[in-house]
Amino acid sequence: MIKRKDLLGLVDASAEEICEILDTAANMKRLLRQGIKKLPHLEGCTATILFYENSTRTRTSFELAAKYMGATTINIAASSSSVAKGETLIDTGKTLDAMKNDFIIIRHPMGGAPYLLARTVKAGVINAGDGGHYHPTQTLADLMTIHRHKSSFENLTVALCGDLKYGRTVHSLIEAMSRYKGIQFVLISPEELKIPGFIRYNVFENQGIPYTEVSSLEEAMPKLDVLYMTRIQRERFDDPWEYERLKDSYVLDTEKMKLAKGKMCVLHPLPRVNEISVKVDDDPRAAYFRQALNGKYMRMALILKLLDEAARNPAKEAIDTTGLEYDRVCRNPKCITQTEQELPQLFRCTDKAADIHRCIYCEQRA
Ligand code: CP
Repeated sequence: MIKRKDLLGLVDASAEEICEILDTAANMKRLLRQGIKKLPHLEGCTATILFYENSTRTRTSFELAAKYMGATTINIAASSSSVAKGETLIDTGKTLDAMKNDFIIIRHPMGGAPYLLARTVKAGVINAGDGGHYHPTQTLADLMTIHRHKSSFENLTVALCGDLKYGRTVHSLIEAMSRYKGIQFVLISPEELKIPGFIRYNVFENQGIPYTEVSSLEEAMPKLDVLYMTRIQRERFDDPWEYERLKDSYVLDTEKMKLAKGKMCVLHPLPRVNEISVKVDDDPRAAYFRQALNGKYMRMALILKLLDEAARNPAKEAIDTTGLEYDRVCRNPKCITQTEQELPQLFRCTDKAADIHRCIYCEQRA
């Protein structure tokens, strides 16, 4: 259940809640198509869009979504704010809270930053992408697109192709789709960019969801219902030569599309670099620009859902910290604990017998 006023990931969202958000998004789409672009739901509300990384789709769709529903929107880009002078995320959050924000929509290069912000502020926090961890609102757009194309989420074979290590959209989509009956995943990546341990643990080990790992896109193609292409995430590589070596690992072109089912759907969170030939854009199975548009409707629906939650529970529930342990160090250099001053590191034991502990911010093993 989405119990608080935050959306940090989709692991707690139920299938019913996702269905409810999909229905509301369809209503939003209908209203906007009728030319109704001023809805009253967020009148008097302030939504701050706090982005520490670049964005076209997420930023634009959140801003449009909030404005259509009557909110005042504030845009903060880290490069032109006091973040550039060294201000911590906690201090930025406290400042925004003092100014009475209703929502803070955050994108950040460090895993777990939205979780830290949610612990710090009274405002609702929406994760618009945290490093190579999660991107749950992209997943809402993905789900709407898959549902419109396939009419169901059940019994689908879903391939994720490209950078599965750093691709945060992939992590959120796998977690969200793992709740549907008959789902099978095909993970297509180079050896160096395989799916990380926290997704293996959360989905494949813990829930026993079937999956295969392969390196050939051509071989996988004929059995797929959904193909989710991803960009190799240049900005997350420590070694630029490693990126150069891997960047064109997979390119979807019209020849490969001939191997696919007639009703397969091709998604990509965008931006693309070279992973899908522009010639594929004319194929009716190419759904990635509709997917970007669906992000606007789903973000409107999500904000309404969180607003409803805020009306029912005006005070934020405290984040559950029972059973957490302090006496370890997170070694992930891309974890928010690496950059915030004096932040206590916190871990949850996920396997007592094997003594496995995971950082509560970025979910990497301690
Ligand atoms: N898919 C996505 O997050 O796109 P942007 O980086 O342009 O927001």
